[in-house]
Amino acid sequence: MIIAITNQKGGVGKTTTAINLSAALANKGLKTLLVDLDPQANSSMSFMDVHDLGHSIYEALTEPDIDVRSIARPVGQIPNLDLAPATIALAKIESKLLGELDSHFRLKDELAAAREEYDNIIIDTPPTLGIITVNALVAATHVLIPIQSSYFALEGTDDLLETIDKIKQRANPELQILGALITLYDKRTLLSRDIQDQINEVFGDKVFTTLISKSVRLEESPAYHESIFTFAPTSSGAAEYYQLSEEVLSRV
Ligand SMILES: Nc1ncnc2c1ncn2[C@@H]1O[C@H](COP(=O)(O)OP(=O)(O)OP(=O)(O)O)[C@@H](O)[C@H]1O
Ligand SMILES: [Mg+2]
Repeated sequence: MIIAITNQKGGVGKTTTAINLSAALANKGLKTLLVDLDPQANSSMSFMDVHDLGHSIYEALTEPDIDVRSIARPVGQIPNLDLAPATIALAKIESKLLGELDSHFRLKDELAAAREEYDNIIIDTPPTLGIITVNALVAATHVLIPIQSSYFALEGTDDLLETIDKIKQRANPELQILGALITLYDKRTLLSRDIQDQINEVFGDKVFTTLISKSVRLEESPAYHESIFTFAPTSSGAAEYYQLSEEVLSRV
């Protein structure tokens, strides 16, 4: 499966979910590739020092002789996990691909060979609905939508669902919504539970049973280049992302 983690709202937990879901799947012995498709490169920085990287996903998408498998590198402490890193160069892609007929299909083409080698591919996307996110949705088999438990949680959801529908109509009829994941949840507040009800109304049984609670540990782990499973194995975040990985596998 190829899962795009997408929501054009910023700071909703896309990267946190991408890195920890990838790690959870890899820990199960599944060969996993995490593709960082965000020019902010937060997923890459969570696992490695991006300053001494050579080629990145930008070159893989724009230069015909650079394959995504040649830019993927193992994530040190996690067997079975490779990362195709991003750098800020990716911000240039919009103008670079302008007018190219295959601009929406670059990632799909790039992953065609890689998907034979991996059990799972997870794609972290930027907070936009531009060409980068469209590439992710065209390449993916599934989309996972993190939704922050906050007052404006569902703002923009219509646009996202409309984009997904458009992509299903032509470019990628196989695309399925894997689920909506409630993140940054605080069970103590009434607001959190209200928002949960609203999200359930929109997404119905697509909402994952797993809730990701607010946790300082989840915030800290990227700074130490670790997933939550080695950084704080007994934390709520580790238990919840493990549970999410089980739920993801049960849905595909
Ligand atoms: N469950 C959580 N508990 C506490 N902090 C969290 C949690 N999930 C994410 N965060 C923190 O919230 C911030 C935003 O999270 P994250 O980077 O995962 O969101 P994002 O959707 O990838 O953001 P962007 O749209 O900028 O790419 C980060 O500082 C992250 O560490
Ligand atoms: Mg991010």
